[in-house]
Amino acid sequence: MPQSEPAHHQPFNDPAHWDKMVATYEAQSQPFTMHYAEAALKTLDIGPSSKVLDVATGTGAAALAAARIGAKVTAIDFSAGMVQRVRAHGVQNIEARQMDGQALDLPDAAFDAVLSVFGVMLFPDWRAGLREMARVTRPGGAAAIAVWNSADGGGVHMLVSRIVRTLYPDRLGPPPAAGLAQLADPARFAAAVVDAGFAPPVITEVTRDFGLDVADFNGVERLFPFISHWNALDDEQRAAVARAFWSEIERGRVGDIFPIPSTAMIATARRP
Ligand SMILES: C[S@@+](CC[C@H](N)C(=O)[O-])C[C@H]1O[C@@H](n2cnc3c(N)ncnc32)[C@H](O)[C@@H]1O
Repeated sequence: MPQSEPAHHQPFNDPAHWDKMVATYEAQSQPFTMHYAEAALKTLDIGPSSKVLDVATGTGAAALAAARIGAKVTAIDFSAGMVQRVRAHGVQNIEARQMDGQALDLPDAAFDAVLSVFGVMLFPDWRAGLREMARVTRPGGAAAIAVWNSADGGGVHMLVSRIVRTLYPDRLGPPPAAGLAQLADPARFAAAVVDAGFAPPVITEVTRDFGLDVADFNGVERLFPFISHWNALDDEQRAAVARAFWSEIERGRVGDIFPIPSTAMIATARRP
């Protein structure tokens, strides 16, 4: 098995993409990822004296939740915009730093608990990301890693990808991030966590509805260009996928909200 797969060009491997997404991410995604962040945190033994690291913090879902418990939190992200957003909260017990999760500029064994919620799975070298998490966890400490249980991710990505798969199975785009696909299987996920230097993990499944605000028609369609299977289609095919998407929404919407059940797996593992 190679140590890292060739990186396809994906917007999520470019910090500039995330810099542009800060406000949208905070408004649309963080209220959703927060549920998984809190579930991941609950699997760890964290108190006011704990030193906690949040890898690929985004707008800070897990970091803010850990800080509320009183933990001393370091939050890292490779996007300067995301780091600035977390700093702007002015939470005293969060130190936000710009850093690549594949090569942490942090000492060995420095943290009691390390989290990454929908972060490491996106790294081109996700194995290095997991190894770095293990390196900075103290022996006896633990990590919690959240990934989607589908290579299509969750929320709108999952729904649109599923429609493309059904209508145009021969026109799929480049595979999503290697880690997203690889870690979507519980046995492979557990093996990867062990390979990175952790004890065998406990894997917990968590399902939440992504509440898509369908009143914001343009806002919803602005998400489509981030979906690789959408980008592989021609205009006519995109129009057909959009029609199928909106008719599914008309059938299932509850007022302005269309619930998209999305399942994550959280691996919680001790560092021997
Ligand atoms: C899907 S968001 C998850 C954010 C947050 N953990 C949450 O659950 O809401 C992915 C985050 O990973 C960050 N990211 C992607 N590649 C990274 C890398 N190589 N190093 C550090 N952060 C990275 C992005 O900037 C983005 O903030």
